[in-house]
Amino acid sequence: MHPKKIDLFQGWPTSSMLPVKRLKQAANAALSNKAIFETGLEYGPDEGHYPLRKNIAHWLSNFYIPAQPVTADRICITGGASQNLACVLQVFTDPAQTRMVWLVEPTYHLGFRIFEDAGFAGRLRGIPEDGDGMDVAALELALEAFERSEKLTQEGLVCACIVASVCVCPLTTNKVYKPDSLYGKIYKHVIYCVPSFANPSGTTMPRARREALVRVARRFDALVVADDVYDFLGWGTAHSESVSRPPPRLVDIDRVLDGGPQDRFGNVVSNGSFSKLIGPGCRVGWAEGTDGFIRGLSRAGSTRSGGAPSQLMSTIVNELLEDNFLPGYIAGCLVPEGRKRHMCLASAIKEHLSQFDVSFTPDPVTSPLAGGYYIWVMLPDALTAAQVCEQALKTRNLVLGSGETFAVPGRGGGGDLHRRLRLCFMWEDEGRLVEGVERLGVVIREILAGK
Ligand SMILES: Cc1ncc(COP(=O)(O)O)c(C=O)c1O
Repeated sequence: MHPKKIDLFQGWPTSSMLPVKRLKQAANAALSNKAIFETGLEYGPDEGHYPLRKNIAHWLSNFYIPAQPVTADRICITGGASQNLACVLQVFTDPAQTRMVWLVEPTYHLGFRIFEDAGFAGRLRGIPEDGDGMDVAALELALEAFERSEKLTQEGLVCACIVASVCVCPLTTNKVYKPDSLYGKIYKHVIYCVPSFANPSGTTMPRARREALVRVARRFDALVVADDVYDFLGWGTAHSESVSRPPPRLVDIDRVLDGGPQDRFGNVVSNGSFSKLIGPGCRVGWAEGTDGFIRGLSRAGSTRSGGAPSQLMSTIVNELLEDNFLPGYIAGCLVPEGRKRHMCLASAIKEHLSQFDVSFTPDPVTSPLAGGYYIWVMLPDALTAAQVCEQALKTRNLVLGSGETFAVPGRGGGGDLHRRLRLCFMWEDEGRLVEGVERLGVVIREILAGK
């Protein structure tokens, strides 16, 4: 057994990248100012700390440069992307009325349980992705097939359970848990994706495909939950030193495409988070959508009772936006560090693994746009990720993310996931990234040699 564990699976920011000094000052400033600490320590307003909403709106407008500037009434404060996904499902879905959840596959695996908690166990479906993210044409076909089977149900010919594998048709269950009159809107479908620098594959969806996705969502009465948590961590090809901005967010597209949102709720919510920018323990994020959607979201029962999530921390995080520290920190520290680490891991893979026919995406040397936290590795035919991960842990104390971890539970998991590995370059330092890849090379050599 190797003496020290190397963990290339852990998708956390390394502690040396956390702006702890600035946070300490921010906490001091917030807790020393009576007007701020009184607000921070009381129940927050439903939509969250107003100065933070205003500053996030300003920051997003400067970063994305959308057709119309982002305004505070389009933003509410959340307890991070995970908490907000649960909250969105509580308010805008009903397990008896909402039919299915369609997820890009591979997808962020810790989201599955959140959908299951909301009553959708057995109703998650994976839609494969290619180099441009979720295959929207395949999604549209799957939704059409679902609608056809549901129509047959309504005609009494066959139950949609055939597609859904549990009985969901309101005609047979005749149940409504969440009346529209109370919740404003219940969507018929949910679509989940990570449009930029995806977890786990690093893929970014181009603009045309984003527009197609918004049109499909509108056609089928679906809410797209876009986890936009890596958007700020973009870099271009190796020689460009500037911060690279991904294409317009789905929520920006929904705002202007074909005359704008179809109703006052729209079809997209952007799920933003400070976890990968300041630190996951902050538990502060934001949601952006139409003002109607945001008002509805912020009226969730737990918020009405407990006030906005992470209220005190919101006042502290706000200090980092108030004086524009955060955009400078992202551009001056996180992006160069991310680019350097991405380059380091990619070169190590080329040097130590290409002899075994191992390939990967995105390549920071050739990709016009790359970013996020991950490299998505493809193993040669002769190997499975499960075998490599098991042997790496057992013989080299090396933790890797197996592709099948990111398969949608149920009927997902097809394609090449059994030959995929997710490697994170933001947790271990550069020396250990290289050593991890060297250990992986030894593991592969041993497996191929039949040891
Ligand atoms: C795609 C995606 N969504 C959500 C999260 C969790 O975000 P938060 O810490 O804001 O709950 C992660 C964390 O890795 C992620 O990769």
